[in-house]
Amino acid sequence: MKSEANFQTYRLGPFELEHPFILAPMAGITNSPFRRLMRRRKSALVISELVSANGIEHSGGKTLDLLRFHEEERLVGLQIFGEDTELLVKAAQVVERMGADFVDLNLGCPVPKVVKKGAGSAMCRDTASLGRTLEAMVKSVKIPVTIKIRTGWDSQTKNAVEVVRVAAEAGISWVAIHGRTRAQGYSGLADWDFIGDVKAKSPLPIIGNGDVGTPQIAVDRFKNYGVDAVMIGRGALRNPFIFDQSRALLLGAEPQMPTSESYLQLMDEQRAMLQEVFNPRMAMIHARKFLAWYSAGFPGCHEFRSKVFSIPDPGILWDEAREFFLKSTQNRDFKFMNQPFLMGGHG
Ligand SMILES: Cc1cc2nc3c(=O)[nH]c(=O)nc-3n(C[C@H](O)[C@H](O)[C@H](O)COP(=O)(O)O)c2cc1C
Repeated sequence: MKSEANFQTYRLGPFELEHPFILAPMAGITNSPFRRLMRRRKSALVISELVSANGIEHSGGKTLDLLRFHEEERLVGLQIFGEDTELLVKAAQVVERMGADFVDLNLGCPVPKVVKKGAGSAMCRDTASLGRTLEAMVKSVKIPVTIKIRTGWDSQTKNAVEVVRVAAEAGISWVAIHGRTRAQGYSGLADWDFIGDVKAKSPLPIIGNGDVGTPQIAVDRFKNYGVDAVMIGRGALRNPFIFDQSRALLLGAEPQMPTSESYLQLMDEQRAMLQEVFNPRMAMIHARKFLAWYSAGFPGCHEFRSKVFSIPDPGILWDEAREFFLKSTQNRDFKFMNQPFLMGGHG
């Protein structure tokens, strides 16, 4: 239902969303604290980073920690990967027992270590075998099973239409598509025309993904490519307010530029959540990464960045960050913002 009324909802498979803009799963980034933070800043749902089905079966402890989530994150999906149907079925059942709202299977990871074993994007090369795995997963749980894919293995085998058909037959609830082939890695641009074409032929809801860096691009992709939702990864790291801004723009309002106050609030919440979940060393590693991303393009960001990576004391680091965002939330350089970054990941 896509009317212009303010109270409308957007259907995605079995769920009703307030709007169609969703945080993409990212390894080492979309952990529970960041997912919580982005739900508070209006990502319509959240998904964990990829978690190994093999690890869930064999290594317990640390792997299971990756599956923990906070109630505040709902709607929350947990993403798994692997090549063995039996282990994927078991992992999906663990995800269901953990209480997640849906289980997502990673079929887009291009990383050699993963595809060599036949997992991630390699699974889409043999669609008959993929269909059997998906069907087994869907039959084994009551929660929705969803998948995230690429457009294909390489430019010769862009088989997303076929993958979506097989997924629909198996009972998958939606397909998210990162608009690059496995061979492309993170180079070139996401092919939204191709995503739009897959959507036009798809019996399933389709989430489009790739290179959405501004609310304007998010709304353009949603309106012009017919997709059911738009997934935003790296764009949310440089602009953690992008979901709410995209929602506002879609409803016809002018997106609010974040103020110093918005950043201070964000940092206070993130600092507290990181302390809650991680040991001091890990909390510091995460603090550094996020502060560097958030500050990109603001005046003085280069000096701030070098401070971020050299200050050893977390208290001093957060104080510096507060000071930076007190004076630096105007005059952002959006040209710099559009430069590609983080050109590698698991999907
Ligand atoms: C650092 C990093 C880690 C990623 N990890 C995952 C992952 O665990 N699972 C997954 O499905 N995709 C993963 N991805 C892919 C993203 O979900 C997304 O498809 C990709 O970044 C393109 O979208 P974007 O241009 O909005 O960032 C990762 C991407 C990056 C940059």
